[in-house]
Amino acid sequence: MNMLIDSHAHIQLDRFDADREAVLERAQEAGVHAILVIGFDLETSRRAIALAEKHERQISATNKKNKRWENLPPQIYATVGMHPHDAKDLDDETICIFRDLAAHPKVLALGEMGLDYYRNLSPRPIQKEAFERQLDLAEELALPIVIHNREAYHDILPILRARRGKVRGVMHCFSGDVEIMHQSLALGFYIGIGGPVTYRKSAALQEVARKVPADALVVETDCPWLTPQFQRGRRNEPAYVRATAEKIAELRGISLEKIGEMTTRNFEELFITP
Ligand code: NI
Repeated sequence: MNMLIDSHAHIQLDRFDADREAVLERAQEAGVHAILVIGFDLETSRRAIALAEKHERQISATNKKNKRWENLPPQIYATVGMHPHDAKDLDDETICIFRDLAAHPKVLALGEMGLDYYRNLSPRPIQKEAFERQLDLAEELALPIVIHNREAYHDILPILRARRGKVRGVMHCFSGDVEIMHQSLALGFYIGIGGPVTYRKSAALQEVARKVPADALVVETDCPWLTPQFQRGRRNEPAYVRATAEKIAELRGISLEKIGEMTTRNFEELFITP
């Protein structure tokens, strides 16, 4: 049985309301034993926590020790944070609310946060301010972070470099080249690879998937978006993280089981056992 973790999913959204239980069953059948549900504003952060509470999974000590998750639905965890699109909504009060929400035992990280220079839905200086404030909170709470980037690594990397050793986390849906991968690794960040690695025109990302060190890779869906090639055009869901993991296994010339072991260990090292 494979073990996979979807390290970035948005199954708290309305688009999953009609069939969320079936989605979780398919995830379990695909070998997904944990899902990190990512908030991107107050509402989706609260809903991520509510979902994690609702699906609290009981694990016996023996099962945990032997890492036997087969007959169990996926464990659900949450993050809380403000996406750069909504950076303009991050004020003192919102930071206080995020601080309170982050105290919940199922909250493993802050984010997604970062910079988005593709859509620029908030002005760039406002995006940077919101990013810095959430980084301050991550330092204060000693929580890892989930970074959203679009066409902004040239600004994100220096901001993280200025906090080297003080913040850690994952470059979610990594879209840079091998050079940016090395710069991210040097800052202690993990590389999150999702559905785009299965697309035909993604040579640079496939190169990253081949070269990323075994101790720095995590896999994700970013569902409902970024559906892997085999279902492209349809809604993405956590079960499809398996297609991404299979593609990476093929690119690296190793088994899916090995990818599952690596990425589960990395997820646990980053988010569960700091
Ligand atoms: Ni996302």
